[in-house]
Amino acid sequence: MHNLSLAAVAAAALTAGTLLGVPGKAAADTPESVAQDIAAFQGYFKERFPEVALEEYNDGVNVLPQYAERRENWVLLMEFPPYEEHVEKGREEWSTPFANGKTFDDCAKDWPPANVYPVYVAESDDLRTIVGDINACLEANGEEPLKNVNNGKMARLVIAYKERFNGEPVNVDVSHPGAVKWYEKGKEFYWTKRGQLNFSCADCHVHSAGQSVRGDVLSAGLGHTTGFPVYRTKWALGGKPLGTIHRRYGGCNRQVRASSFSSQGPEYKALELYEAVMNTGIPLKVPSQRQ
Ligand code: HEC
Repeated sequence: MHNLSLAAVAAAALTAGTLLGVPGKAAADTPESVAQDIAAFQGYFKERFPEVALEEYNDGVNVLPQYAERRENWVLLMEFPPYEEHVEKGREEWSTPFANGKTFDDCAKDWPPANVYPVYVAESDDLRTIVGDINACLEANGEEPLKNVNNGKMARLVIAYKERFNGEPVNVDVSHPGAVKWYEKGKEFYWTKRGQLNFSCADCHVHSAGQSVRGDVLSAGLGHTTGFPVYRTKWALGGKPLGTIHRRYGGCNRQVRASSFSSQGPEYKALELYEAVMNTGIPLKVPSQRQ
């Protein structure tokens, strides 16, 4: 039942420009309606791609039947994953002491596990991301925070933390009313059309998942946050192979000729929360390889 109505709404969004993505959502969300949204979103993909198990969605577009022909390349590439050297470098950077002799582990021993991020903080009504926590750790130890939060060293450090939780299913807590507000904001962003081409995230990654756009097969929105940061062949050609999830959001916004928002700003943090909540139950797989 959920599946059909979600599909119907996605179709309606496509034709009528409606922005609400999830069935029957005139009223504000509650933890119960969030649970229904998860069931509807995951149910939609289950019906659409019955051959793909929920846990497999952390392999992104590679799991879709429409990608089967290219999958072989990816499988071969994974025998000697090009991200290995970056992962190793990140581990070294992670354990290199700061000027005061401490390391990231002195901060991270108090962090939540990676599979529960983004984490809502009631006192500041804000979301904690791993990127934000890494920079907060640097500052707390008298080091300069990293300005580039999209690729390079930041991406390597996020990988160094997240890889410890590979296999752990995403499980973000949105029980606090303040967290639900952030969730609503992310959901609205996801289902709102924008840019000169007038596309929402859902138009491409829900409604059109599996179809081709300019030579790319569109991944399912399900699983989106679980492999990030990723190593992307296309990005490697430009000399910056790694990217955080917010780097990817910026790229997707620009594809539809919409302006992108700042990485680690409220819009993308809310979007990350919404996508992560939709991924409830999918194991982390960091880093991942993408075309
Ligand atoms: C015009 C279609 C289009 C729109 C609209 C779009 N994307 Fe994408 N997106 C792509 C393409 C193409 C790719 C690369 C292939 C793939 O993995 O889907 C991609 C990839 C991604 C990925 C990487 C998936 C992975 O596992 O590597 C994420 C995450 C993502 N998009 C999120 C979003 C979000 C959030 C929005 C809305 C702000 C959005 N996209 C809007 C076309 C689009």
